[in-house]
Amino acid sequence: MSELHLLDHPLIQHKLSLMRDKNISCKKFRELLEEVAMLMAYEVTRNLPLEETKVQTPIAEARVKVLAARMSIIAILRAGLGMVNGMLRLIPTARVGHIGLYRDPHTLEPVQYYYKLPKDVADGELIVVDPMLATGGSAAGAIQLLKEKGARDITLLSLIAAPEGIQRVRREHPEVDIYTAAVDERLNDHGYIVPGLGDAGDRLFGTE
Ligand code: PRP
Ligand code: URA
Repeated sequence: MSELHLLDHPLIQHKLSLMRDKNISCKKFRELLEEVAMLMAYEVTRNLPLEETKVQTPIAEARVKVLAARMSIIAILRAGLGMVNGMLRLIPTARVGHIGLYRDPHTLEPVQYYYKLPKDVADGELIVVDPMLATGGSAAGAIQLLKEKGARDITLLSLIAAPEGIQRVRREHPEVDIYTAAVDERLNDHGYIVPGLGDAGDRLFGTE
């Protein structure tokens, strides 16, 4: 069964609390999402595999460890885009893929309109990023697409998750670990997370 990791680092929690405030500007929301993503990148990469190699220091040869796997960040459009630069600050060599999904407002099921994935996506570690895990349809759909392309080592990183979304991803993809900074109460009748932070894509891009 997948593990659920609650990222309770004080800086992550502080920044998330600021983001929930409906009165902050689009600029501030964007900055905070990037900052919190950078902090989350540190936590989500904690168990990455390392391999031994050698390097010549100015003094002697040293046995050192470097990341063993190729890293890819997969952003679910649109709101996942707001997490990419923060993640890249810590993993600058990661490749970046994009999966375009929007929720049908009536069924709340995801509709795919775009994808572009790194070459050889089946190799290496993938971190799927999307700030909101609500019904879980978007995340589950994105992971399904990645699996169909051969990907195996997939982790999901969200900022706020609803219990319903966690359950759905765990049911459909029991091997995928989920990292989140908060598990909120529930979904409302429109599929929004309560209390959540509203529509992440709209707040990030100043749309409605
Ligand atoms: C939002 C959010 C997630 C999805 C979560 O995207 O960014 O991708 O909803 O909801 P779910 O777990 O019920 O699928 P949205 O569909 O609003 O598109 P946008 O990012 O382009 O605004
Ligand atoms: N998508 C969002 O952006 N916010 C929610 O609360 C649910 C889905």
